[in-house]
Amino acid sequence: MNPALRFAEKTVIVTGAASGIGQATVVRLVSEGGNVIGVDTNEGGLNETVTKATANAASGGKARYMLGSVADEATVKKIVADVIAAEGRLDVLVNMAGILRSQATTETSLDLFQAVLNVNLIGTFLFCREALPHLLKSRGNIVNAASTSSLFGHPYMAAYAASKGGVFALTRTLAWEYMKQGVRVNAVAPGGIVTPMTVEQGGRMDGLDLSLFAHLSRPDRAFGQPEHVAAVIAMLASADGGHMTGEVVKVDGGVHN
Ligand SMILES: NC(=O)c1ccc[n+]([C@@H]2O[C@H](COP(=O)([O-])OP(=O)(O)OC[C@H]3O[C@@H](n4cnc5c(N)ncnc54)[C@H](O)[C@@H]3O)[C@@H](O)[C@H]2O)c1
Repeated sequence: MNPALRFAEKTVIVTGAASGIGQATVVRLVSEGGNVIGVDTNEGGLNETVTKATANAASGGKARYMLGSVADEATVKKIVADVIAAEGRLDVLVNMAGILRSQATTETSLDLFQAVLNVNLIGTFLFCREALPHLLKSRGNIVNAASTSSLFGHPYMAAYAASKGGVFALTRTLAWEYMKQGVRVNAVAPGGIVTPMTVEQGGRMDGLDLSLFAHLSRPDRAFGQPEHVAAVIAMLASADGGHMTGEVVKVDGGVHN
């Protein structure tokens, strides 16, 4: 196999594909020959992703999208079933869909807490559950989106950090459960990556004590790019990560060392 085409002949689903890390992952995997189906609720962003991913089709990779919410069970079932009907196989699932809502815990409503869990944790569970029977056939793998908040806790992110802590535990659990059958399950734990999520959240921090974040940024204030995380996802999801499972790999510029 050409080492630059690690996803040739591979069918991949990437959720959260309309933006940020999910979009960069689609672009990366298509550039390595993957047949990638992006899933998101944002159709404009999905169109942009497909345009970017297919701008250089020299790899033989392909991209298309399916619109839908990861938090809706019937939608997730239908998307996975439709992919199998059309492609006949699934080799990799990348769960990047996520939402972040920062506020003081005393101000956090049950509705907001549940809404964050529904996308970040329940959505990841639903896609894993529906994809696993097909990944068992292909001896494929999953890469989930944890977060440095799931490992260390971040102020004002009770719902988000709890949901990502759940993704951390889900990842490790599935890794053990399916290890003997050859399905690998890993996660990335990004921190401080410039995406619409972090940029928009920066605008919603009024009234919060920003000094609590002092230990969460680098001395040079450098942020990471979505492509930094996409490169690690590509490694984990490819044969290069073939002896890794249950790993939650930080991509945070070294802040949490
Ligand atoms: N950017 C960071 O620094 C950072 C840090 C830690 C973890 N993460 C995680 O990485 C993942 C990607 O984040 P990002 O920074 O690229 O954010 P982003 O906001 O740029 O992308 C998230 C995508 O998820 C989609 N999405 C939201 N709800 C959805 C739903 N119900 N169904 C389908 N799609 C939905 C959004 O439309 C968006 O396209 C997220 O899970 C996020 O929590 C990011």
